[in-house]
Amino acid sequence: MPNLHDLFEPRSIAVIGASADRGKIGYRLVENILASGYRGEVYPINPRGGEVLGRRVYPTILDVEDEIDVACIAIPAASVFHAVTQCAQKGVKFVPIITSGFSEVGNLEEEKRIVAYARAHGMRVLGPNIFGVYSAKASLNTTFGPRDIQPGHVAIITQSGALGIAMIGKTAVEEIGLSAIVSVGNKADIDEADLLDYLIADDDTHVILMYIEGIKTGDRLLEVLSGGTQHKPIVLIKAGRSERGAVAAASHTGALAGSDVIFEAVTRQCGVLRAESLRDAFAWCKFLVETPLPSGENTVIITNGGGVGVMATDACEKYGVNLYGDRPTLKDIFSDVTPAFGSTQNPIDLTGQATDAGYHAALTAGLAHPAIHAVIALYCETMLFDIDQLATMMTTFSARYRSAHKPIIFSIFGGDRIETLIPTLRKRHVPFFTDVYEAVSCVGAMYAYFHHRTAPADAPEGVDINSRRIDQVVDNARRDGRGFLLAYEGQQVMAAADIATPQSHLAHNLDEAVAAAAATGYPVVMKIVSKDILHKSDVGGVALDLDNRDEVMDAYQAIIRSCRAQQPHAMIEGVEVSNMVPRGVEIIIGARRDATFGPIVMFGLGGVYVEVMKDMAFRLFPLSRREIMAMLKETRAYPLLLGVRGEAQKNIDGVIEAIMKLGTVIQQCRQISDIEINPLMVYEQGIDVTAVDVRILIGN
Ligand code: COA
Repeated sequence: MPNLHDLFEPRSIAVIGASADRGKIGYRLVENILASGYRGEVYPINPRGGEVLGRRVYPTILDVEDEIDVACIAIPAASVFHAVTQCAQKGVKFVPIITSGFSEVGNLEEEKRIVAYARAHGMRVLGPNIFGVYSAKASLNTTFGPRDIQPGHVAIITQSGALGIAMIGKTAVEEIGLSAIVSVGNKADIDEADLLDYLIADDDTHVILMYIEGIKTGDRLLEVLSGGTQHKPIVLIKAGRSERGAVAAASHTGALAGSDVIFEAVTRQCGVLRAESLRDAFAWCKFLVETPLPSGENTVIITNGGGVGVMATDACEKYGVNLYGDRPTLKDIFSDVTPAFGSTQNPIDLTGQATDAGYHAALTAGLAHPAIHAVIALYCETMLFDIDQLATMMTTFSARYRSAHKPIIFSIFGGDRIETLIPTLRKRHVPFFTDVYEAVSCVGAMYAYFHHRTAPADAPEGVDINSRRIDQVVDNARRDGRGFLLAYEGQQVMAAADIATPQSHLAHNLDEAVAAAAATGYPVVMKIVSKDILHKSDVGGVALDLDNRDEVMDAYQAIIRSCRAQQPHAMIEGVEVSNMVPRGVEIIIGARRDATFGPIVMFGLGGVYVEVMKDMAFRLFPLSRREIMAMLKETRAYPLLLGVRGEAQKNIDGVIEAIMKLGTVIQQCRQISDIEINPLMVYEQGIDVTAVDVRILIGN
């Protein structure tokens, strides 16, 4: 297959559907290619022949004598396949297909036919349903979007065409230069992962921005993303967060949106910076492309306004920015430049009385001291500060800080005089915002990326489980025509994975139940065992805390009666009698095979309110024990494991180990699609965690 290099730096390009009609996309494409300063050969193709924009038009691509790397197709959908066969005959390497009217409107077969043909003939397809490609390296604008695109160091990959075209406009206003922008459309062949591979290796691309609606091959995308974020920041906007949004995205692109919570977790695990809004995404890109990475986490706020200082402090907490708190050192650094009624505690408050000279001195002090790693400089318009100096000062300091590898971001707020500075500051690529929160969110994104880059790269770990035994249990259930395991089978799986469960026996009649209870020891729990009953308590199939023989006898009869009454056709195997485990911290752990991303593990607060509390964290599996610990810490339930109100710490290692085991089961036993333990009882250190209720589903 051809190298993507030839898509971004082709030696020659054909436009199939080139038109002399100024109103057509085929005209606009040729116009943009010629205007962008592309140095390769351009061949307009149209059976009418003639000329477009002074260029000779060839009736078919086969009439061109030269070799052609890229053939951009903008003719009606019904003619595209034929054009693709001619491209193949010509030996074209890439065919970006602008044309709409394929899988996005249900015409999947034609799209598949085109891609299969192209690939069988050594070509790759971009799209269909795209606005094109811009590549700064080749000075090539093969889009029908805006003509002038400022070259620079941010690359954009977008699934939405219209949004992509609008993004070009937005980057121009913000003076954000682009190294590339690519529309992936229906991504019938080339997808984000392919493009990322190229852009990650491209030295001219310093930051990548992606807009995604749905994902087709999630595991490969994640692999490329985790590799990529070791080299440069990747900012991602994924639409379809809400349930309704996900439905809109799914019908829009024909791709499954997948569960957003899992998407969020796994992309974060890969070090991707997910932005909720376009505004954040652009702000982060603008900042990250200009700023060096810091050497540490000590951030200082320097302000001439107390109020904005407080707001920035709040914002730092929200976005996880660490404010440097060593008071003596801060005093040492800033006391000379701070008035007596100001503050040298972070935020450094120079007060409204600060002059431009005072502000200059404070920025100089922050720059010079090695204990300070990043500065958030806030400016409120005051009458004492010579605002004519402001733009120059910001430009000078952003350059000085950059060469010292110390990030600085400005937030300036005020009236007309501030507004008039904005175009100049943008042109000079000074990192500034007019909103404090926006500025701090950029620093937060930078530190999220910094943490990812500096985190120890520990290898994924695993544990030994008896997967052959688990497969046997699953095979039996399959033979029985079931898509889930019964309780005692779940316990067999737990035993094979070495996770403790309550001691239990299957009783087929009343006498066996009484004997089982005596053997187990009181108090006991009884549960109905039936392949037709999945939700046991809903049909009166569970009795807890049975203290003696009489209670066991009554409960047995009550369970059978209730289940028979409510599900008369259910095949009842008997009743499971188990010992009642002591109360501990009730948590939920699970593992599943996600259709898009592969094995995922989960941890959260357990019990009956799981659905309501939604206190869960997810990770891709395999992973290290350290990462599992990080997952635990993300939840509100974690402090319960540390012990509250003088309680002793719980068996956290046992929880980590159990998660490791569930992940390994999902990884190795491919027939199992879902395991959930709720509750997993967690006791004090040294006492085994116990899986009280285990739910296991079998996949297709
Ligand atoms: N080879 C070369 N040229 C051909 C051709 C072929 N096999 N078949 C037709 N053409 C020519 C036509 O004669 C016409 O040229 P003309 O103006 O000289 O007559 C030109 O190609 C375009 O064909 P036309 O039939 O006029 O189509 P169009 O320009 O109205 O629409 C598309 C073509 C591709 C733009 C349209 O089908 C489409 O898909 N539009 C949506 C594009 C879009 O939004 N994409 C997603 C963006 S995110």
